[in-house]
Amino acid sequence: MLVKLALLTAFSMSHLSAIELPNVLGTPPSQTKEEWVKTGRPQTLELFRKHIFGRAPIGKPDTLAFKVIEEDPTAMGGAATLKIIEISYSGPGGASQFKLITFTPNKATKPVPGYLLICNRGIENIDPTRKEKDDFWPAETIVARGYMASAFLNAELSIDKNLNFNNGAHKVFDQYPKERPGDAWATIAAWAWGASRALDYFETDPSIDASKIGVLGHSRGGKTSLWAGANDQRFALTISNNSGCTGAALARRKKGELVGRINTSFPHWFCGNYKKFNNREETLPVDQHQLIALMAPRPVYVASASKDAWADPEGEFLAAAHAEPVYRLFGLKGLNTMTMPAPDQPIQTGHVGYHLRTGKHDLTDYDWEQYLNFGDLHLKK
Ligand code: GCU
Repeated sequence: MLVKLALLTAFSMSHLSAIELPNVLGTPPSQTKEEWVKTGRPQTLELFRKHIFGRAPIGKPDTLAFKVIEEDPTAMGGAATLKIIEISYSGPGGASQFKLITFTPNKATKPVPGYLLICNRGIENIDPTRKEKDDFWPAETIVARGYMASAFLNAELSIDKNLNFNNGAHKVFDQYPKERPGDAWATIAAWAWGASRALDYFETDPSIDASKIGVLGHSRGGKTSLWAGANDQRFALTISNNSGCTGAALARRKKGELVGRINTSFPHWFCGNYKKFNNREETLPVDQHQLIALMAPRPVYVASASKDAWADPEGEFLAAAHAEPVYRLFGLKGLNTMTMPAPDQPIQTGHVGYHLRTGKHDLTDYDWEQYLNFGDLHLKK
């Protein structure tokens, strides 16, 4: 069922654009939270799985194992305990592993909430020695605010290249004797799967409150954090930083990066079925406001940057805004406005947060400050 929406925002006062979005409440639209939980939500999730991100062949494997390979209780000048955990798994295609870095605040008197960054850059951006420091992961600040800071490298789950899924989690679990099915998982789904395995580890670590973890990522990492938060309802908070096309941005606006372009430049990110929608965004059975709505009733935060036209900031804002009806079913406020805020004026009054940062495509101290403020409202209760 399609609803006609007039999308007028402060950001685009000059033009009133009318696009048709699929009803965020599903088909038929859920009338109650019970209907949403029983039918609307699973159906919506399945549409994203079948047509966009693909189907992971496994959840938590029986073979999953955790080994602390490094521990330093005097990290960050004594403020934190560093642990590097090797998370390993095996399956029909062999074995693989990835490393999870955690810093927990030493002054904590009970298990701490935390942030898990899916790092789509290099190890220098999440340097466990802290010789290199980077806005991308201000671990000292996160710890000082009373949270665990954790991160892993997405490429350790599946290399970010169109290599025919021959490494990492794909090599271990993919069993497609004939052709790869159109709904087989792809790279982004494998990275999201890794985030859930990190959460499996948090559940075993008594210094961490695994029920209060925010998952976040930037750009392709933000597409991944949204998919992780949609699939795994153990994540208490989901944050999308400049995730753009097939992340937070509405596909039907066809602004910035388009579906055909992303599927050509990065054919390994999404499932085979997604290619059917190249140049045919209006035929997608879902749009990205529905991905955001899959977080309800848990909080979700979407952030854009003013000079990031490729990610369509307005499309990201509108997707966050149009998740509202699902939050309302739970008696909660979502973003609670259809007016795009001015740059650097965060909206954090409901269960959906949003800001437009002045500047370019990046994850910065300013973004983190907003995520920590939003976390104070939702993860510290
Ligand atoms: C490219 C790509 C985007 C992606 C970005 C990134 O620009 O087109 O979809 O978000 O890379 O991950 O940095």
